[in-house]
Amino acid sequence: MCGIVAYTGIKQCKNILLNGLKRLEYRGYDSAGVGILSVNHSSKIKNPVFEIKVAKEAGKIKVLEELLKDIEMQGVCGIGHTRWATHGEPTQINAHPHFDCKQKIAVVHNGIIENYAEIREELIKKGHIFISQTDTEVLPHLLEGYLKSETNGSLLVAMQKLMKKIRGSGAIVAISVEKPNEIIAGRIASPLIVGTSRDGNFLASDMPAVLDHTRLFTVINDYETVCVTRDKVKIYDSNGKLVQRNPFKVNWSIESAEKGGYEDFMLKEIFEQPYGIKETMRGRLLDGELNFEELNLTDEQIKNLKKIQIIACGTSYHAALTGKLVIEKWAKIPVEVEISSEYRYRDPIVDEGCLFIAITQSGETIDTLAAIREARGKGAKVMAVTNVVGSTVARESDSVIYTHAGPEVGVCATKTFSAQIMVMYLTGLYLSKVKGLIKQENYERIIEELKMIPNKVQIILNNAERLKKIADETYKYTCFLFLGRIYGFPMALEGALKLKEISYIHAEGYAAGEMKHGPIALTDNKTVVVGVIPQDFVYEKMISNLQEVRARNAKIFAIVSEGDKNIEKYADYIFTIPKTIEELNGILTVIPLQLYAYYIAKNLNRNVDQPRNLAKSVTVE
Ligand code: G6P
Repeated sequence: MCGIVAYTGIKQCKNILLNGLKRLEYRGYDSAGVGILSVNHSSKIKNPVFEIKVAKEAGKIKVLEELLKDIEMQGVCGIGHTRWATHGEPTQINAHPHFDCKQKIAVVHNGIIENYAEIREELIKKGHIFISQTDTEVLPHLLEGYLKSETNGSLLVAMQKLMKKIRGSGAIVAISVEKPNEIIAGRIASPLIVGTSRDGNFLASDMPAVLDHTRLFTVINDYETVCVTRDKVKIYDSNGKLVQRNPFKVNWSIESAEKGGYEDFMLKEIFEQPYGIKETMRGRLLDGELNFEELNLTDEQIKNLKKIQIIACGTSYHAALTGKLVIEKWAKIPVEVEISSEYRYRDPIVDEGCLFIAITQSGETIDTLAAIREARGKGAKVMAVTNVVGSTVARESDSVIYTHAGPEVGVCATKTFSAQIMVMYLTGLYLSKVKGLIKQENYERIIEELKMIPNKVQIILNNAERLKKIADETYKYTCFLFLGRIYGFPMALEGALKLKEISYIHAEGYAAGEMKHGPIALTDNKTVVVGVIPQDFVYEKMISNLQEVRARNAKIFAIVSEGDKNIEKYADYIFTIPKTIEELNGILTVIPLQLYAYYIAKNLNRNVDQPRNLAKSVTVE
């Protein structure tokens, strides 16, 4: 997830772009840059020749701001970008905009080009030279190539051709020296809006970037292209036909626009999960096949794996527990899961033939980092699963699987968690396939089910009001027990953790079978028991556990699969999730748990984005 802003009009654009980028910093902040169409001083006044001046730098936007103070960049048409790295580390060279060979076209991009490697190869054969490690850099080179043939020199037509060539996601915005007042853009899956004003027009990833200048917006849809000049906006559909669309007006404040109209970043991020999960699958689930080369293990190495060791902290630890379940079930490799802070101090043994996986959304958690160093010091190969490209864990591991969930601003993990679980599913299935342990028919069925997960998550989100109602009726209780078995157990732990983190109510997550060994002593009429009880092979056992706590007057809130009529006899509150195969129930059951915790915390007026005593990235012991 990156931020884009572009302007063409009658005003100088340097500060418009810079201020727009500052408003988008929540979308990405590891490097930033601007490109402005400026008159080349050596050209004639009557017949000016334009060049694209680019300034870009690694680091936060204030680094770019400092740089821009010393650079003269005159011009009324330009593009800006704040980056959240996906391909290539956050360096000056990898920052956007990117150029074609002759530096006549500049492009900024938000998204992932899945087939960039093959396009890059093709272009290199045609003589194009690349200087960055990004997927984005193929875009200006493709445009350059198309402009040479069959496009009559039209950057718009070139963009339309490009949209048919690339696979993946992208909001792509381009300028060219040939038309110094024109911006051309296209969209596949990543957000892109046009803002219109009397002094010029804008393109942006999100409204806050330009709310200081306009409140009139038009959304660009998937596979559309758009040509923006200072007084016209022309939108084209995927066949190149002109589309009529009237702008709409928004009254949002900048603060609420940053949160996409949601009250908090946490709620926004919970609702972003269908998109986040799709991004995690992107490029890895192709045409009914799993492509997981990033694992960086040969088939031979996978077949010889004797053990997997997963370490993590907090919410990531719960993703690790899910990883254990699916890897053992599908790939038949024994998996040990351990909390990083324990692992690092216990003089662990690193066995030969053991793959070591570290899960961390931030990539900076000091305990996880120390555990990695410990394991590598003893000869382990480490695979990191993280959301932050170029993070310390990513740099210090042998291979990295990025979750691509986009930046998470809320302190407690939500969308990064569902993305981590998806990576665990993909890993388990891939290992199983390579080991030849799964029947083709079952493999295809799981892939089909995986592809349906984002829509099923959306169905749950559409029913958020129901969770708010349950939270409104239960938020005054002071003891919460979350129970689950097998795939539901890590989610019970996560549900309890979410509630503690943001509401400050005491909550425990338990394997339901352990109730009788202690926690049942706590249950009385002041307790809410949240049962994670989707349709699976331990359903009946879960029902028995709920009956036990109900007999002790606890209120029961059950999260069940749709069509479960039986549960009404046992639960006071019910929330249904769509059906899926039992191994994948976890990713669906955690969504209502996140929302439930959120609404309880809101009833108690808690600051859910910055809960007391907690930090997004824990770099101290
Ligand atoms: C902090 C965050 C949690 C996170 C944990 C582990 O406590 O508030 O949301 O789960 O760190 O972080 P990591 O970045 O390693 O996943």
